[in-house]
Amino acid sequence: MTDVLTPVLSANWGDERAWKLHNYERRGGYQALRKALAMEPSAVVAEVKESGLRGRGGAGFPTGMKWSFIPQNNPNPKYLVVNADESEPGTCKDIPLMMASPHTLVEGVIIASYAIRASHAFIYCRGEVLHVIRRLQQAVREAYSAGYAGKNILGTGFDLEIVVHAGAGAYICGEETALLDSLEGRRGQPRLRPPFPAVAGLYACPTVINNVESIASVPCIIGNGAEWFSSMGTERSKGMTIYSLSGHVARPGQFEAPMGITLRELLDLSGGMREGHQMKFWTPGGSSVPMLTDAHLDIPLDYEGVASVKSMLGTKALQCFDETTSVVRTVLRWTEFYKHESCGKCTPCREGTWWLVQILKRLEAGKGEEGDIEKLLDLCENILGRAFCALGDGATSPITSGIQYFREEFEAGMHTPAWELFPYERSSIF
Ligand code: NAI
Repeated sequence: MTDVLTPVLSANWGDERAWKLHNYERRGGYQALRKALAMEPSAVVAEVKESGLRGRGGAGFPTGMKWSFIPQNNPNPKYLVVNADESEPGTCKDIPLMMASPHTLVEGVIIASYAIRASHAFIYCRGEVLHVIRRLQQAVREAYSAGYAGKNILGTGFDLEIVVHAGAGAYICGEETALLDSLEGRRGQPRLRPPFPAVAGLYACPTVINNVESIASVPCIIGNGAEWFSSMGTERSKGMTIYSLSGHVARPGQFEAPMGITLRELLDLSGGMREGHQMKFWTPGGSSVPMLTDAHLDIPLDYEGVASVKSMLGTKALQCFDETTSVVRTVLRWTEFYKHESCGKCTPCREGTWWLVQILKRLEAGKGEEGDIEKLLDLCENILGRAFCALGDGATSPITSGIQYFREEFEAGMHTPAWELFPYERSSIF
């Protein structure tokens, strides 16, 4: 660890049994909740707004602003839903956070619910990660027995029920409105927006949906103040965040650092690329955002910096690939994922991802046909902006950016199989 790292969310990850309530409390856990409960709910919203916290699920929507959209004159119940359905390829920040320090999330849930005046909060977690679900359930139970959840929390008259809900393992259920359908007991498929969930969400009631890391950032903001948080990061992307590094790096893992750190700096911290190899391409946020190359190692990893090179920060999942990796094969694997996970509701995504896979498969096999690259680009153009939700848009990003930076590899797919150009045994990933 160096000065570049700012462990706040991950400060206690190395502690023995950090997930237990008494260990969390020993480090000052639940003091922020006490502070928040002594404030007016609107003041808590204002503090989070002031901090500049932006949604850590990928889109970067200002969290405090989202909370302030909840209409308080609406007589219906208000809900808080935590999107813990982390599924974006390469993204592995929320699961370690929930495993190591579930109380950071639970404390954030209680503060956020108080701020928006919700009496029910749901943590929607991927069904496959049973160990995480158990750990969250245990933490919620501990919070109830300590008087931090349930009726009359800490004697303030504030009531909150917290439910940990297991999904059934569909990437689409991380899309917020599909998540709501799934939570209501239906097949998870996206809904038309607007209305946004803040107006009509769970059971058609006002609902805030936030990512795990966003909610887990709330206790430290309330505890230390908005100014402390906004003193970190860049002008428009405030605070610290968790970057996950994976792929051909010497030491993959989670690195908590101020927004705006560069990949070059993060690679220094993670021992660089694996020995004897060089960076070929990388993604700033999973596979749903345009890939970048070694020419982009010094761009600030914040929303604006990554947008300046026509990509997106997304989930901050930095997947790094060295020169042994075939771009065509990598893009094919990702596209197969989108084809498999497409919910089938809209035609551009359901049919488009199927056709993309067919073309990429023949390019991978060295059996590409004249005009295949143009067909790929044409298909992508017809999916982008025409799909029902972001899944379809995301599916096009690796293809269009892959062709932009490595067109010659796609052209080689007209005559040479990818496995001849990039033998499998030399690449540990694809
Ligand atoms: P979005 O930009 O449409 O919305 C972001 C958030 O702001 C939503 O909660 C939405 O309800 C809210 N919002 C936006 N405009 C609003 C308005 N006018 N009024 C009220 N609320 C408003 O982004 P979307 O489609 O929800 O998410 C896409 C992102 O998800 C991508 O950037 C991608 O990186 C990320 N993603 C994350 C995954 C993960 O595993 N964490 C998986 C797949 C995608």
